[in-house]
Amino acid sequence: MISVSNVSMRFGAKILFDEVSTGFTEGKRYGLTGPNGAGKSTFMALLSGETEPQKGTVARPKKIGVLSQDHFAFDKFRVLDTVIMGNKRLWTALEERDRIYAKPEMTDADGMKLGELEGIVGEEDGYTAESDAAVLLQGLDIPDDLHGKKMGALQGGQKVRVLLAQALFGHPQALLLDEPTNNLDLDSIHWLKGFLNQYDGVLIVISHDRHFLNSICTHIADIDYETIITYTGAYDDMVVAKTQVRSQIEAQNSQKSKKIAQLNEFIARFSAGTRSSQVQSRRKEVERLQVTELAKSNIQRPFLKFEQKRPSGKHILELEGVTKSYGKTHVIRDFTASVLRGEKIALMGRNGAGKTTLVNALLANSPTVPEAELRKTSGYDGAFLSKGKVVWGHEAAVGYFAQDHRALIQPGMTAFEWLHQWNPAAAHEEIRGLLGQMLFPRDDGDKKTEVLSGGEAARLLFCKLMLQKPNVLVFDEPTNHLDLESINALNIALQRYQGTVLLVSHDEDLVDEVATRIWHFEGDHKITDFKGAYEEYQAVLV
Ligand SMILES: Nc1ncnc2c1ncn2[C@@H]1O[C@H](COP(=O)(O)OP(=O)(O)OP(=O)(O)O)[C@@H](O)[C@H]1O
Ligand SMILES: [Mg+2]
Repeated sequence: MISVSNVSMRFGAKILFDEVSTGFTEGKRYGLTGPNGAGKSTFMALLSGETEPQKGTVARPKKIGVLSQDHFAFDKFRVLDTVIMGNKRLWTALEERDRIYAKPEMTDADGMKLGELEGIVGEEDGYTAESDAAVLLQGLDIPDDLHGKKMGALQGGQKVRVLLAQALFGHPQALLLDEPTNNLDLDSIHWLKGFLNQYDGVLIVISHDRHFLNSICTHIADIDYETIITYTGAYDDMVVAKTQVRSQIEAQNSQKSKKIAQLNEFIARFSAGTRSSQVQSRRKEVERLQVTELAKSNIQRPFLKFEQKRPSGKHILELEGVTKSYGKTHVIRDFTASVLRGEKIALMGRNGAGKTTLVNALLANSPTVPEAELRKTSGYDGAFLSKGKVVWGHEAAVGYFAQDHRALIQPGMTAFEWLHQWNPAAAHEEIRGLLGQMLFPRDDGDKKTEVLSGGEAARLLFCKLMLQKPNVLVFDEPTNHLDLESINALNIALQRYQGTVLLVSHDEDLVDEVATRIWHFEGDHKITDFKGAYEEYQAVLV
């Protein structure tokens, strides 16, 4: 059981939670929902104890497993170590112990400290940590030969499995997962559903994926107007309940307004006359009848519009015998295609099939995406192509949205400053305008880049592309972290865009509505090039 009492939390003028009290019990599976920036990740940090509430208290079980929203945070660590880090107390003790062992000379104090540390390592099953971790990983389908590798070398689906192993390490009584389906293909999501449905502790999952929430949740805890309301049932049930409550209040309000109008009429008619006591009592009644204020919907729609500074030539991109291998494994083999201006190509296929690899190979050869930008995102090894040629057409100006998009936004500056650097000549009003359009009102533009929520960071990158106005957009899983309204806005903006689009996405609705051509990565380095929409392609497949 996790219980939250009178918790309040605010950042500057923005109140996230005001006197929230709620609870989460074992055996139930909660979805934690709300639009981008509502405070979901912040609330999870309060639950796990990573952040202290400014007011109020949280009572929690001793061991809590957490999967954080940033799936790239452990890229520099070994897979096994990443799992063991799930037990913080143990991991800190192990590190401290290694540090003392590495000293050329040990003091008495060091010796005492070592004794203490050994105690902790023993209590936390440290002597079997590596083998325990390995067993967990095997259970989650991560083969032994990956256990010693760095996290950065794994593809999306595998990474999430390792992070789940981390969360599960040390048998936690509660499991908190922040957007676990980001970066996962449909098969892996299916697997995750099955896995979570068997978990018997307290489970709390943040997700914007309606289908996913519907198939695992027994309850939805929805963040709405500075509080949290828990509904029984899955996501769709919550939406129904919410609209019912709203229309009930609306009906009551309209009755009350009618009554108030009648009373006011009486008051107006007789206030100057002799019936002053009746007027007085009616005035009191009017006061009592105040309509329940319905907060305006917490749903906000960003306005996205991608334009081109200058259109490109007709032949925008040629791929000739493109081949890429890592060591002995071919990921892409002998892929040839030519792309015309205005085509919208969806790159589809399972985790690890090579979509991001191809995107990286294309960008590394592009005139406008600096290599530094590629290096910052993980999994890029700097070697462009093993064989073949990538030729961008005349005047191609490429705009890029990376799968690991956070890495492209340096910390330590404001959102405004970050955006302005991409076009220093732009007027301040233009920058403010763009930020406002993407739901960063005036003060929010002065927010530090490192505190942006997942969805806010994605929106800021879209601002950059709207400022640069490229004529080719290369998007690698842009819908991760976005709420439904933002995904919708992105969908429409991509449909209307006049330039060329290369889009990696597992979001079938988006692909269905945007793509005019499909590159299907079928595994075993086979890519099917289909010139037509997704629906037509599916018809061909059966
Ligand atoms: N330390 C901080 N200082 C100022 N503002 C902050 C800080 N941490 C978070 N915020 C702001 O609080 C709000 C909630 O952030 P949070 O990450 O919890 O949102 P979220 O609901 O998880 O959103 P998303 O769906 O985009 O992941 C955001 O507007 C964020 O910018
Ligand atoms: Mg979040």
